[in-house]
Amino acid sequence: MKANTKRYLVTAALPYANGPVHIGHLAGCYLPADVYVRYLRAIGKDVLFICGSDEHGVPITIKAKKEGITPQQVVDKYDGIMKNAFKDFGIDFSYYGRTSSQVHHETAQTFFKNLYDKGVFEEEVTQQYYDEEAKQFLADRYITGTCPRCGNPNAYGDQCEKCGTALSPTDLINPKSALSGAAPVLRETKNWFLPMGKIQDSPAFQEYIKRFEHWKSNIKGQCASWLNEGLQSRAMTRDLDWGVPVPIDGAEGKVLYVWFDAPIGYISATKEALIARGQKPEARSLAWQDWWQNEETELIHFIGKDNIVFHAIIFPMMLLTHGQYILPSNVPANEFLNLEGDKISTSRNWAVWLHEYLHDFPNKQDELRYVLTSIAPETKDSEFTWKDYQTRVNSELVSIFGNFVNRVLVLCEKYYGGRVTDDGGRMTEDGRVMEVRKHCFEQVAASIVEMEQCLGEVKLRDAQAAFINIARAGNKYLADTEPWKLAKTDEEAVKGILFDALQICGKLAIAAAPFLPHTAAKLTQLLGVRELKWNQLKEEVIIAVGTQLAKPEILYKQVEDEEINVQLARLEAIKKANQAQPSTTSNLNELKPHISYEDFEKLDLRVGKVIAAEKVPKADKLLNLTVDLGFEQRTILSGIAEYYKPEELVGKLVTVVANLAPRKIRGIESQGMLLMAGNDFGKLYSVGPEQDIEPGSVVK
Ligand code: 2FM
Ligand code: ZN
Repeated sequence: MKANTKRYLVTAALPYANGPVHIGHLAGCYLPADVYVRYLRAIGKDVLFICGSDEHGVPITIKAKKEGITPQQVVDKYDGIMKNAFKDFGIDFSYYGRTSSQVHHETAQTFFKNLYDKGVFEEEVTQQYYDEEAKQFLADRYITGTCPRCGNPNAYGDQCEKCGTALSPTDLINPKSALSGAAPVLRETKNWFLPMGKIQDSPAFQEYIKRFEHWKSNIKGQCASWLNEGLQSRAMTRDLDWGVPVPIDGAEGKVLYVWFDAPIGYISATKEALIARGQKPEARSLAWQDWWQNEETELIHFIGKDNIVFHAIIFPMMLLTHGQYILPSNVPANEFLNLEGDKISTSRNWAVWLHEYLHDFPNKQDELRYVLTSIAPETKDSEFTWKDYQTRVNSELVSIFGNFVNRVLVLCEKYYGGRVTDDGGRMTEDGRVMEVRKHCFEQVAASIVEMEQCLGEVKLRDAQAAFINIARAGNKYLADTEPWKLAKTDEEAVKGILFDALQICGKLAIAAAPFLPHTAAKLTQLLGVRELKWNQLKEEVIIAVGTQLAKPEILYKQVEDEEINVQLARLEAIKKANQAQPSTTSNLNELKPHISYEDFEKLDLRVGKVIAAEKVPKADKLLNLTVDLGFEQRTILSGIAEYYKPEELVGKLVTVVANLAPRKIRGIESQGMLLMAGNDFGKLYSVGPEQDIEPGSVVK
């Protein structure tokens, strides 16, 4: 923390608006940011917590191609889905923006223009890869190939996700177009480059990187390796038609590089937060420059490890060359979360999606938050398994935290009708009880100190473990003094113990707030108080004599084996489906072994005309087609309902494998198969003759 810190501007990486949110997103970036922000707010800091949808770049246009819709439709669809998922899990952004907004376009363009006018960019005509089939330049993720650094065969044109290296398309070995699979050609085009090597050598940047000293070792390591190699100039513009248009003459048809515009999204969202009414009060009290251009602000970027170079080096270089902005004082990047022994993958559906989790575990947001913080990949990749989820919920949340609170509330209800009756002042003379009590409060106090220290240092796993230790100490107090037994012999002691235990419940309600906000609110209500403040953590009495507690309710329910088995079965089914149907991507360039001409001749391929088509009831993917083969009509089932509406097919000429043995699908006999062409994006295209030719013609 800087000595003169007045306010905290915390950002969480703007996720690409191209899919729903899964546990990897949550654990990697949004949950830690939220826990930290909730802590800062609790201790009374002025905080602005910014996020939003990243709506530009190739990830969006690729998704649009895959879904057969426009990029605008993609971002409109997913922006809302993502925003809601974060809200459902209590990720409490001050403001969630989107980079398609007008404010953002203007902010990004003004920023670019500022650097341009200062003469920062190198304007260069270079050879860029071009797909002659798709007739477009292949920027960033439109091109894949082998990473020159680690040999990963699936590196993208802008980055290798395996080793984290930032790449240019021309760095790739064996490049190929992600659009057509073809080897691209080089074509000349003009772009504007950020001279990163030059900026790296500047005294201001050298001064800035001294901050890395205090950052997590994963960031330090990655940054050191880039800086030691020496940075290359990097194009900040792209020959694409989706993005923020480059605001200078001579750049028509070009857009800003998505990694130029996206981090500026944090600035735009800040501006919008101030404009928006109904946002949090902190977002209205200051001007956006107070947050971005004032040394009294600490700028902290929460990100996943694949975003390190952009947040620790490239964006700071942009801010620095602009000249008026503060630079990040910390970039707490997490590593990746794996799922049941495998990398989380959207394309393979290998993920726990937040909306599906909530469907299966309604109102159990805090259980997932708890587990994900417990296993957060803070220093290395970590792993989510459903068994571990069950164990952590049952043996920690249920058995330690929930059980302690429940025992206290139930005993208070039973003995005193839920009214807080004693202040512990007349505590028993029983030396044993006094000893246990002293020990318990020492433990509680030590855990609070540790928790706060870890929260301040963004060591959230340890912070949450310290939080659970508070409940552990409370449980031990009850187990060692057994008030339910003492009730027969020493009523005063029981009053004192339960009063103490209630104060620990109060501390738990306060301390739970950053980690388990839904539980914290519920516990506060069960304790019969309206509001609890963080500074009460250090107070002896939190729940005062005379307070009427609410009727006891349990905080957490046991997770049953059956619930876990359902999840495991779902993942197993996904694994099987992935094995049975290897992705088109991985197969695209792999040829099957040779076959003889005789083998080929065995196929009877015919031209057919679709004369009727309808959906097969209760089967999302199947169409029931009637195909005229000239000499007869056939019923053919085809799994193309996702790609064709029935009416689009009627009248179409198709190619039919006419001698494929008939087989029954959903009770209907399918008498042949249509030939379809599939590319990387999953969509299937029917293969038919170019010219109108009569049905039944032989394809050879
Ligand atoms: O990796 C991603 O999902 C990027 N959309 C993150 C962008 S963070 C920032 F720069 F906006
Ligand atoms: Zn690599």
